[in-house]
Amino acid sequence: MTTTYEFWLAGQRASGEADFEVRHPHDGSLVAKVSVPTDAQVEEAVAAAAAAVPVFAATPAHVRAAALDHVAKRLAERTEEIAQLITAENGKPIKWARGEMGRAVSVFRWAAEEARRTNGETMRLDTDPGGTGRYALVRRFPRGVVLGIAPFNFPLNLVAHKLAPAIAVGAPIILKPAPATPLSAMVLGEILAETDLPAGSWSILPVENAKMPALVQDKRLPVISFTGSDKVGYQIMDSVPRKHVTLELGGNAAAVVLADWSSEADLDWAATRIALFANYQGGQSCISVQRVIADASVYDRLVEKVVAKVQAQVTGDPRDEATDVGPLVDENAAKRVESWVEDAVAKGAKVLTGGKRDGAAYAPTVLADLPENAILAKSEVFGPVLSLHKASSTDEAFAMVNDSDFGLQAGVFTHDVQTAFRAHRELEVGGVVIGDAPSYRADQMPYGGVKDSGVGREGVRYAMDDFTFEKVMVLTGLDL
Ligand code: SIN
Repeated sequence: MTTTYEFWLAGQRASGEADFEVRHPHDGSLVAKVSVPTDAQVEEAVAAAAAAVPVFAATPAHVRAAALDHVAKRLAERTEEIAQLITAENGKPIKWARGEMGRAVSVFRWAAEEARRTNGETMRLDTDPGGTGRYALVRRFPRGVVLGIAPFNFPLNLVAHKLAPAIAVGAPIILKPAPATPLSAMVLGEILAETDLPAGSWSILPVENAKMPALVQDKRLPVISFTGSDKVGYQIMDSVPRKHVTLELGGNAAAVVLADWSSEADLDWAATRIALFANYQGGQSCISVQRVIADASVYDRLVEKVVAKVQAQVTGDPRDEATDVGPLVDENAAKRVESWVEDAVAKGAKVLTGGKRDGAAYAPTVLADLPENAILAKSEVFGPVLSLHKASSTDEAFAMVNDSDFGLQAGVFTHDVQTAFRAHRELEVGGVVIGDAPSYRADQMPYGGVKDSGVGREGVRYAMDDFTFEKVMVLTGLDL
């Protein structure tokens, strides 16, 4: 019998009048159905969230922290069950789904810790004669209700990155999961419902995409935290210029291998990490390796190793423990990747391995000689495809990284600390990873991009800053 998941309206289970199907990307089988809220139910959730603003802002830190700790604990306890659900709705291999669970636990644990240690700051004002006897306290307060819009590629953890910081600062949140992958978010709702968070402080609503513009415009939701495509992200931002909008968007991340990274062991490590992180989750991560830029002195040796390691990735059913690369989220996604590779080949690119589609699966693919006018050269592929590029110097390699509309993260394989600092300074990205692929992310790190990769930062404490504003209180007539 098919399960129909209810949604979460102001912390309570609810169901609407219609539902939609969630299908397994690997074989198209029906995983479950999800009930869709009616317009009246969405309105009820928004009104409840707006009413909860003063109540939640005044909730003691220990209440918020205890709720967040509870979620971390229960997610850890239910890891296997929810990981299986993530694999079923998203198609990512079970080993990566378990990894996502561990990260979500960490996000809630960090949020609990940050909720406890947020103190604000004090500021002396007697630095000028007019400030004699004055002293200031600067504290942060929630901006209001957060509208969180999550993507399909990390169905639980990128939902956690919106819910946990909102709860940590006492900002009510309406969370919309991705239509393809709402199930693990609904189970997270079950766990949140076990806490004492105030009524109305959170809702998880699988609102249809067509209904989102009205919600985006709603003045009772002054903060929008969106993760997804640059096209939709900037449409949202342009449509509500007076709201506080944070955008975590795409990338075409580069891994740079410099001349000093040249021993067999060095190149084995770089090739292993590049092959792994170009293909993990079928390349459906904004920081998966899309471009490899190697110094000419190591290029040929690196290429041979990268191709061998990409070929060694085990493809197949994401439920199998051995599978490294499963399907993309659906067949249309795989068809788009296929058409982009065909475009690149028609314009002169060479396929060194891969280049084949089977339903929703696309084979791990390595391209060389990618021409600049290929779609793949500039756009985010969001699939298991990497391209190899040769650079004649560090200057040229860094210029190639920066020759992109995106700027999320970059990986630089170098042993030289000066070059590491130079990369940190010069690369136009939100994060630089030295000695590893650009895909490394610890969930407490500031995470976000420059250029078309977005604005604002996630990484629990940084999102907490985005969801709040500083308010100063000046004390007067003090005998300091
Ligand atoms: C993303 O795709 O932007 C998230 C990557 C991650 O959390 O590892």
